[in-house]
Amino acid sequence: MPGDRTVGIHDLSFRTGSLVLTHAELSKHTGASLAKYHQGIGQRAMSVPAADEDIVTMAAEAAAPVIERHGCDRIRTVLFATETSIDQSKAAGVYAHSLLGLPSHIRVVELKQACYGATAALQFAAALVQREPEQQVLVIASDIARYDLDSPGEATQGAAAVAMLVSARPAIAAIDRPSGLHTHDIMDFWRPNYRETALVDGKKSLAAYLAAVEGTWRDYQNHQGLAIEQIRTVCYHQPFTRMAFKAHRQLLDTAGVSSSDTAIAHAITPTTRYNETIGNSYTASLYLALAALLEGDEDLDEATVGLFSYGSGSVAEFFTTRITPGYRTHLRTAAHTDVIARRRPIDYATYRRLREDTLPDDGTQHSLPHQALGRFRLSGIAGHQRLYEGFRPSN
Ligand code: HMG
Repeated sequence: MPGDRTVGIHDLSFRTGSLVLTHAELSKHTGASLAKYHQGIGQRAMSVPAADEDIVTMAAEAAAPVIERHGCDRIRTVLFATETSIDQSKAAGVYAHSLLGLPSHIRVVELKQACYGATAALQFAAALVQREPEQQVLVIASDIARYDLDSPGEATQGAAAVAMLVSARPAIAAIDRPSGLHTHDIMDFWRPNYRETALVDGKKSLAAYLAAVEGTWRDYQNHQGLAIEQIRTVCYHQPFTRMAFKAHRQLLDTAGVSSSDTAIAHAITPTTRYNETIGNSYTASLYLALAALLEGDEDLDEATVGLFSYGSGSVAEFFTTRITPGYRTHLRTAAHTDVIARRRPIDYATYRRLREDTLPDDGTQHSLPHQALGRFRLSGIAGHQRLYEGFRPSN
């Protein structure tokens, strides 16, 4: 029952890279058993961006259907969350703004705190809409997860972008108060400016994530949050999908609820369908889990769904959303299923070549082959500038 003060997600659209490397193919190179990938970490495949795709092209692909459905008359702000930024100064969202043909009377900003950035963007967007309910905010989360070749992290890579339109009287999900918050200065995963790939202490990162589940839940309870029994299920940030099952066990233990593995599997499996074949998409990952849940079989009209966001380093937040009655007619299930299905499978050698062919860093002219399946692409680099091609509706 959305009232006048209700603010939340009015539309949700995602896109991913045009290529896919399966864990079956990866295991031929690493020698790891497929059971470790499929059961141990819960991953079956990872999206790989084509040579002419990056966070901007994926973001524009994800956001274009949102603009086509709702127009852009009420959008006054674009918040772009990423931890795989392409520039130290200019916001990636400004390129996306141009590709999408958005009008000039819009503010565009980039946000960063590892995988948590999109949740910060969502909360900031909700606050802006609360202040001026006639405006809408376009929140975009876009990332490419890359670890060192031949490292344990390699099996947990991926790429995707999610675009969410935040508005009053949302058609999909209202964002509730309060939030449970948790910040802890820890070196579990980080990427210095001079590196293309993340540095990670895998075991420490798992422990830090679980400590943050506990920390956010305690803070949520200290701020008069709902009882665990009032929350239908929880979507978690999924660096690999098995993490969500571990996290739910941690949450239930912290809340003092005993639960069987079967009950946890029943609650969490509907949130993992997209991430298990896309891989870690950092800022986008939690919202792919939400998309999977909403686009699954369960009827969630008026259900309260928890969201747990974790960004290494670390900042985390737990909050709930109330699913709007009739939300199903606003989903994009067919388009999402299609973008996953039409990715081109690549073998390990092709993946390795793509990883090793890096863009020049001396500003020299460089053209990229046309590989992207979507309508936006990075055509090359010239004079230290990235050159994009694609749909620019009103520019
Ligand atoms: P690893 O050393 O390759 O794997 O690292 P492992 O030996 O720990 O095995 C993984 C699981 O597979 C284990 O399960 C094994 O038992 C199981 P667990 O004991 O943990 O339940 N296993 C098997 N299961 C069935 N059959 C088998 C078999 N063999 C083993 N035959 C690790 C795995 C995830 C640590 C590594 O891939 C990594 O470092 N990934 C990157 C870091 C990461 O994802 N951290 C997650 C928390 S931090 C986070 O979420 C933030 C992040 O998204 C970044 C951000 O915020 O920006 C990463």
